[in-house]
Amino acid sequence: MEILTDKEIILGVTGGIAAYKTAELVRELIKKGARVHVVMTRNAQEFITPLTFQTLSGNPVQTDLFSLHQDSKIGHVALAGMAHLVAIVPATANIMGKVAHGIADDFLSTMIMASRSLVLFAPSMNVNMWESVAVQQNVEKLKKACYHFIGPEEGDLACEVIGKGRLAAVVDIVERIEGLLTEKDMNGNRILITAGPTHEPIDPVRFITNRSSGRMGFALAKMATRRGADVILISGPTHLPVPGGNIRFISVGTASEMREAVLEQYKECSVIIKAAAVSDYHPKSVSKQKLKKLDASASLELERNPDIIGEIGSLKGDRVLIGFAAETRDLIANARKKLKEKHLDLIVANDVSRSDSGFATETNKVVIIDSRGKVDPLPLKSKDEVANIILERVVEILTIKGGRRGKP
Ligand code: PMT
Repeated sequence: MEILTDKEIILGVTGGIAAYKTAELVRELIKKGARVHVVMTRNAQEFITPLTFQTLSGNPVQTDLFSLHQDSKIGHVALAGMAHLVAIVPATANIMGKVAHGIADDFLSTMIMASRSLVLFAPSMNVNMWESVAVQQNVEKLKKACYHFIGPEEGDLACEVIGKGRLAAVVDIVERIEGLLTEKDMNGNRILITAGPTHEPIDPVRFITNRSSGRMGFALAKMATRRGADVILISGPTHLPVPGGNIRFISVGTASEMREAVLEQYKECSVIIKAAAVSDYHPKSVSKQKLKKLDASASLELERNPDIIGEIGSLKGDRVLIGFAAETRDLIANARKKLKEKHLDLIVANDVSRSDSGFATETNKVVIIDSRGKVDPLPLKSKDEVANIILERVVEILTIKGGRRGKP
């Protein structure tokens, strides 16, 4: 189940040119299972019509504080009471000024004041307005009062200048809403996650690698930071953007660089998850010059890479250590063997023979096996969902190990 499933989200739309982007936000939130209720100010209706939001959300749009017709259905207090989160997108200087100073003179400002749920502002305005003393003082005041903010971002503004004032991207607003609504059950934990492939050089332009995209490890990092963990993400080469949130990103190339980074960082961590697909071998010698093709066949002599998880397994103390197993046959038996030999608390066995699971896919079909022998086969799920289930199990193990959540 997605975090937004059945959540009641109120979107307050105020009068800025970016109001049209809120339509896309409604669609994205609904796709993720949320129930969306839109409240518009009078000025917002100059930029986009209530009909657009009513059609997209499937719910009546609230615009008028004193409408008997609207109020008989759902008033500002009732709406405020049912919301899991209120997001003001875009948020003008005017709405932030009103909330900061306790002015409630329309449906939206009254509803925000009556709400006890989380409130997120996504400001968007001209750069000079954003940087003005009045707006900055209001933002500071609202932050101190525990209102949340996303953006604005730097970029081309509608007023034809470049500067800070652009509405945060819809995907980032969705991510922030999901983060705010996630229970912070990993607060106080520092967690080390490895991701991606390694590149083992042959010569200046060639290397040995595998098909890992980094998605599984990055999904774990994103979900762990959402749950309140402090994340160190050590990754081999990937094309993925580093997820937002409390993540320290360390980029490595080879297995031995990954080992070095892991050994430097693991001591400060209470949980280590090894989702990386580390190359088991590297070429014995790396040519300084690009190798020339020969008439005859050629061969490469390979040497074993360090077994990073095996080494950490013997040093882990009471840290939680989770491994992955990528298998094309004898999934459970091979995974069990690795679990035992590497002193793991949990192993996530991927069936990488399927085209929708394992390397470079959006989804994963895994079996989770714990150190007591419990085998939990999961249906095919997105890598975000798999990550969340693994982290739920991590939280359970941390609790069993004595509830220690902080650094060992
Ligand atoms: O990155 P994606 O495209 O999203 O794909 C995800 C994934 C399939 C790469 C991932 O889910 C996965 O299965 N990762 C582990 C792949 C792997 O290398 O499996 P393994 O069975 O060879 O290794 C077992 C464990 O030992 C792994 O936790 C691995 O990180 C670790 N290992 C392996 C070799 C080595 N030299 N050192 C290690 O620490």
